Amino acid sequence: MADNPQGEAIKSYTWRTVCRVGELADGEGKTVTVNGRLIAIFHVQGQYHAIDDTCPHMGASLSGGYVEEGTVTCPWHAWRFRLCDGVWADNPRIKIGSYAVRVEGEAVQVRIEEVPAHKP
Ligand code: FES
Repeated sequence: MADNPQGEAIKSYTWRTVCRVGELADGEGKTVTVNGRLIAIFHVQGQYHAIDDTCPHMGASLSGGYVEEGTVTCPWHAWRFRLCDGVWADNPRIKIGSYAVRVEGEAVQVRIEEVPAHKP
C-alpha cells in the first residue's frame, strides 16, 4: 500500500474468484471467506451480488436469508439489506459492506481490498 502526496494510504484492490457460474441456483446465497472477510454472494436472475455476510444486528449469516425484490432478509430477526449496495432497507442510514462482482469465463469474482503483506 502506497501513500498519496497528502500522506494518506492509497488502497489497492484485486479480483478473487469465489464460485463458478451455475454453482448457485437462482435466489441462492453462499458464504465465502476472502482476505479474512466473510462475504455473502447471491445469484439473482443471472446477476451476482456480494455484501458482508455478518448481520450487524446479532451476527447471523445473511447468505442463508430469504432473497426477494433485490433484498435479502436476515434469517434471525428479518432485517432486510439491499443486495446492490448493502443498505439496510428499513433504515437507510445504516449500511454494510458491498463489493463489485464480475464474471470472467466461468469464474464469479469479487473485487476486494488487498491485504498488505506483513513486514518482518
Ligand atoms: S441477527 Fe440479523 S436481524 Fe437479528
